[in-house]
Amino acid sequence: MPNRILHDSLMKKKFTLGKKDFIFIAIVIAVITILSLGNYEKRTAPTPNDAIHSKVTARSQCLECHSSKGVRPQPKAHTKATQCFQCHTQPKSWSAKP
Ligand code: HEC
Ligand code: HEC
Repeated sequence: MPNRILHDSLMKKKFTLGKKDFIFIAIVIAVITILSLGNYEKRTAPTPNDAIHSKVTARSQCLECHSSKGVRPQPKAHTKATQCFQCHTQPKSWSAKP
């Protein structure tokens, strides 16, 4: 009998959410929210779905036109990040990933 009581109380302990657990869950939710907001802010003008852009397969090609000497330079304060399509989403029909 004492064994059974001990067992029951152990089980109870396992499945009870304490204050710490709720704080932990709150932090997890906050982090996910902040990360997805950050992701949202990164979205900007999509890569145009036109004849020029659908043939580009490398980042170096993007920069031939979009570097400071190109036909359509990036804004001066533009990020140096190189994953263009992370922010300038590519048309769904493409497969290239500069
Ligand atoms: C042959 C030159 C050329 C290449 C290569 C090129 N672009 Fe462009 N890009 C242009 C021109 C010209 C415009 C402006 C006219 C237009 O919207 O098509 C433009 C516009 C853009 C815009 C702005 C769209 C807007 O609404 O203001 C983005 C973003 C962009 N390009 C991203 C890219 C990315 C990413 C790549 C590489 C995958 C790339 N471009 C390759 C010439 C180029
Ligand atoms: C971290 C996100 C991010 C990445 C990565 C990124 N860009 Fe941008 N880009 C932006 C934002 C935000 C703007 C608008 C900034 C502004 O208007 O000042 C912009 C603007 C531009 C424009 C001008 C668009 C217009 O309407 O005139 C061009 C061209 C461009 N980016 C090309 C590129 C290319 C090419 C790459 C890859 C080498 C690249 N970007 C990578 C965020 C990004």
